[in-house]
Amino acid sequence: MMLNIAVTPNPNPAPKPEGDPGFGRVYTDHMFRMDYTEGIGWHDARIVPYGPIELEPSAMVLHYAQENFEGLKAYRTPDGGIQLFRPEENAARMAASCQRMCMPIIKPALWIEAVRRLVDIDRDWVPHQPGMSLYIRPFIIATEPHLGVRAARQYSFMIILSPVGNYYPTGMNPVKIYVETHYVRAVRGGTGTAKCGGNYAAGLKAQAEAQQAGYQQVLWLDGIEQKYIEEVGAMNVFFKIDGNIITPELQGSILPGITRKSCIEILSDWGYTVEERRLSLEEVAEAADEGRLEEAFGTGTAAVISPIGELRAAERQIFIGERIGPLSQRLYDELTGIQWGLRPDTRGWTQRV
Ligand code: PLP
Ligand code: COI
Repeated sequence: MMLNIAVTPNPNPAPKPEGDPGFGRVYTDHMFRMDYTEGIGWHDARIVPYGPIELEPSAMVLHYAQENFEGLKAYRTPDGGIQLFRPEENAARMAASCQRMCMPIIKPALWIEAVRRLVDIDRDWVPHQPGMSLYIRPFIIATEPHLGVRAARQYSFMIILSPVGNYYPTGMNPVKIYVETHYVRAVRGGTGTAKCGGNYAAGLKAQAEAQQAGYQQVLWLDGIEQKYIEEVGAMNVFFKIDGNIITPELQGSILPGITRKSCIEILSDWGYTVEERRLSLEEVAEAADEGRLEEAFGTGTAAVISPIGELRAAERQIFIGERIGPLSQRLYDELTGIQWGLRPDTRGWTQRV
């Protein structure tokens, strides 16, 4: 399937950042855009200079938050090439988010082609420095000017690109995480499994309070009993207890992370059994008290593999370690090795651009 994309080159290309660009601060020269109109479908695929967009103040996304987004990366390989990591997974997850949010889906083949064409046009922006990559942010917003509450009839799908370094300013060092026992992120039947902006807006208050208390992120518990571990603000979580690896099951309120899925596959290939099940905070705390909690780490596109050094729940502190655990390090090396083309990709996860 070929997508007919009109290209308008940017007449004023920006200088590429020197050194570490941080996360999500710098954008490349171009963006992709395609519009949807009910009765017509997706139309006017185009690549245009990166810049402000025009929206009616009554655009429905601004009022009722009908939108969703994705996050994936393009990596520079040792031979100077560029590759994507499992983009078909992101395409499928965006389609699932669209279904949950009453939005029109984009066929995965077209979605991937749009990503590939944009990355190709801005290929010089894919960093060469170790540990850096080009973050790809596809998103869909409801653009129809209308104030009645219903699904919109007009949308825009856009893709922007941003050269990035580490998500956490502390790099690969263990993060301190605050276990949230007051606010909740998602409830059964809610939008927790969809990658929609509203989930993140709902989590900001808890994140701000956690950061004020000296913690980088929030660990969310289930929205009903606030007993079972769900996920972190921008990562899924894994615990190694007594040699077993446990991660919360995808029961409907957790984002089905692509890094999570990849780690489960790698760990299984290494002979580990990964238990996807309900895991209570109490079980983790008990394991820590008894010296059986060996490692904990988060997984995500932006955060990669992020060791967790400490969990702070209302009345208790769980120390896991000040150093990166051996399994977290091994997973990081394997996963990033495949992503950057430093290790063989035996599973067909990467795609050259
Ligand atoms: N959970 C949340 C809430 C996220 O925002 C992310 C980041 O995308 C993840 C988990 C990890 O998902 P993935 O590995 O697909 O990036
Ligand atoms: C990602 O890892 O791609 C994310 O979306 C996390 C965050 C920046 C929202």
